[in-house]
Amino acid sequence: MANDLLHIPRIDILVELFKRRRFDPFVIKDGKKHLKQEQSLFILTDKETKEFAYGGAAGGAKSWTGCVWLVMACLAYPGTRWFIGREELKRLRASTYQTFLKVCKAYGVNKDNHWDYNGQDHFIQFHNGSRIDMLDLKFVPRDPYYERYGSVEYTGGWIEEGGEVNFGAYDTLKSRVGRHLNDKYGLLGRIFVTLNPKKNWCHTVFWKPFKAGQLPDKVKFLQALVQDNPFIDPGYIDNLMSITDKVKKQRLLYGNFDYDDDDNALMEYDSINDIFTNEFVVEGKKYITADIARFGSDKSVVMVWNGLRVVEIRKFEKMRTTKVADEIEKIRNKYGIPLSHVVVDEDGVGGGVVDKLDGCHGFVNNSAPIDNPQDQQQQNYKNLKSQCYYMLAERINDHKIFVRCDDYEMRELLSEELEQVKKWDADNDKKLEVMPKKVVKELLGRSPDYSDTLMMRMFFELKPEQRWQIF
Ligand SMILES: Nc1ncnc2c1ncn2[C@@H]1O[C@H](COP(=O)(O)OP(=O)(O)O)[C@@H](O)[C@H]1O
Ligand SMILES: [Mg+2]
Repeated sequence: MANDLLHIPRIDILVELFKRRRFDPFVIKDGKKHLKQEQSLFILTDKETKEFAYGGAAGGAKSWTGCVWLVMACLAYPGTRWFIGREELKRLRASTYQTFLKVCKAYGVNKDNHWDYNGQDHFIQFHNGSRIDMLDLKFVPRDPYYERYGSVEYTGGWIEEGGEVNFGAYDTLKSRVGRHLNDKYGLLGRIFVTLNPKKNWCHTVFWKPFKAGQLPDKVKFLQALVQDNPFIDPGYIDNLMSITDKVKKQRLLYGNFDYDDDDNALMEYDSINDIFTNEFVVEGKKYITADIARFGSDKSVVMVWNGLRVVEIRKFEKMRTTKVADEIEKIRNKYGIPLSHVVVDEDGVGGGVVDKLDGCHGFVNNSAPIDNPQDQQQQNYKNLKSQCYYMLAERINDHKIFVRCDDYEMRELLSEELEQVKKWDADNDKKLEVMPKKVVKELLGRSPDYSDTLMMRMFFELKPEQRWQIF
């Protein structure tokens, strides 16, 4: 056997080894082995994993790994069809394609001898009939469900920098793999996602269930940090160490998914965490805020306030609105809170509760901002909800809110939702607006019921109390 192999060109040996899942030539260099990379190649060629996320920090060899997988798969299985997708085609070509060239060079897969690049339609055509499409995964409003890729049949594919890619692209492409020669070669339809930490679908689909040990068998996540990569230039790590931006450093060097780097976020990550320990916030008048279950959510949330302290959070699941109104009545009587200190969201089904609790306030998200001389910016808000969220952000950043909550899952949900409160500038009309609920829901995969309930408390900060003067 060894003698036979001596007569065939080196690349054929590499392909043969790849097919036999012997990855040493791809993961060993100068006597050092990238163990995570080897592990990831095992996962990319197993018979179980349909979705595989790799990386979670800079320099872990994400791009190299993706390129090795596709180059070798293309050569090993003639006629197969693959894709590499990224949010921007330009960056795919400027960065990922450059790694592709390096990988080809390293393993002797010469351009011209083995493949050509079609620069007009952006695909790599191998001479054995295999092909890799370069996909532009940018979100375009006229094609929100990525129907432009809805009928292409792929063997498998790779989403590069999943944190930048819209959920719809992943969702559509997932259903396009496993459709081209997979049976012939016994290959599983598989999607590979390389990523840096980001609070988008990658967080929900991979990171969170991974951390909780709840990933299904067919989904895997393998974290690779720069420290796991023995081939990295030492200067590269120094550069990452010297990043001054705390959030960026947490993400790119330590692979911390729980930090967000979105400049548009209204509240600071640390300040959000602090709300649960700001015991010093003083007591004051008592209020109730309530978010009532509606479409897309079957949970109602009620918060009891003493000043800017949340002293109790109640969650009611799958409960009729009339019953929720009864519960609010009970809470009101327990704490001695007048109806005029109760606010309930009035959109959709919440209106029924407002009617039943005759005398409480209804909160209409899209209504006009409240005229309040204390609030300098008031003319500029898109609506009441945006005004209240901006005000809440200010209070949270100033450590003026305290939330008593011993339920850690609830804490995590609330924190996640608050991190999604972001500036939004859809109409470019200079009005201050927060990211619409539709988008938040898509990012979180649920309705932000806890943060909305917290936000509504600002209604009472804005609305001066009625004082009757008797002459
Ligand atoms: N198997 C390998 N052999 C040689 N060099 C590698 C290998 N894997 C990764 N590298 C090198 O490690 C560095 C980081 O890899 P890259 O794939 O660009 O990381 P990431 O995409 O995670 O930021 C690059 O300089 C790349 O050339
Ligand atoms: Mg990369």
